[in-house]
Amino acid sequence: MKNRLSQLIQRDGRAMFLPIDHGYFQGPTTRLEEPGKTIAPLLPYVDAIMLTRGILRSCVDPSIQKPIILRVSGGTSMARKEELDQEGITTSIREAIRLNACAVSMSIFVGSEHEHQSLLNLANLVNECEDYGIPTMAVTAVGTELGKRDARYLALACRIAAELGARVVKTYYCEEGFEKVVKGCPVPIVIAGGPKVDSEFEVFSWVYDALQKGAVGVNLGRNIWQHDYPVAMARAIRAIIHQNATPREAQEIFNSIKSGKDV
Ligand code: 5RP
Repeated sequence: MKNRLSQLIQRDGRAMFLPIDHGYFQGPTTRLEEPGKTIAPLLPYVDAIMLTRGILRSCVDPSIQKPIILRVSGGTSMARKEELDQEGITTSIREAIRLNACAVSMSIFVGSEHEHQSLLNLANLVNECEDYGIPTMAVTAVGTELGKRDARYLALACRIAAELGARVVKTYYCEEGFEKVVKGCPVPIVIAGGPKVDSEFEVFSWVYDALQKGAVGVNLGRNIWQHDYPVAMARAIRAIIHQNATPREAQEIFNSIKSGKDV
């Protein structure tokens, strides 16, 4: 367990995960139509990738050395949005071990109709994975209800995930009270980005603020790989996470790489 966690959360206590699991319910998401091509230039700048077994098997070179966070929940689709909270476990622990996963991840839907099912899925997954020393990352999903991204809701979801045994929790950043979300969660928190926003500075600001308030890093996808300059985004965000760059410094790094200068 400690060995796997140390591959995910680096010696500086920080982590940069790149999720490309979106297709498990969204299908061929924009700029993730060919996941292998999307991630190839980004891999040097991330600490781990998060994806499903199907994409790992068919699109990722098995010789890559990056730790794998294997998404093992699913069974729903955007075509039935009202049922998105009804996920099951899709991948066996045996398969996760065979694929050399460093961690597994699954979504929980606190406050939704199928909350109970998703929380028991998490507890059962933890029961299995702990036997093999494999950490579980809980994804506190808000589905289409992004309005739920307030500190009270996120603190509730993160704490419950930790209580059920998640070793890492993925949640969203919120401007008001994020420090309370972190304080109430005894395991490391990483933040996702959500749908792509227009301003890269906004992304740098969330990431920076989340770290200042106690997050260990990010599990951030669309705001990197849907950007026109994904490598510049990845390198700028990496600088915030691992070199304590400020949003302004990250913007300078981004601008330099975008204009073809190296940094
Ligand atoms: C999607 C996920 C993603 O891994 C997570 O939401 C992070 O990606 P993004 O930054 O694009 O929101 O769990 O199901």
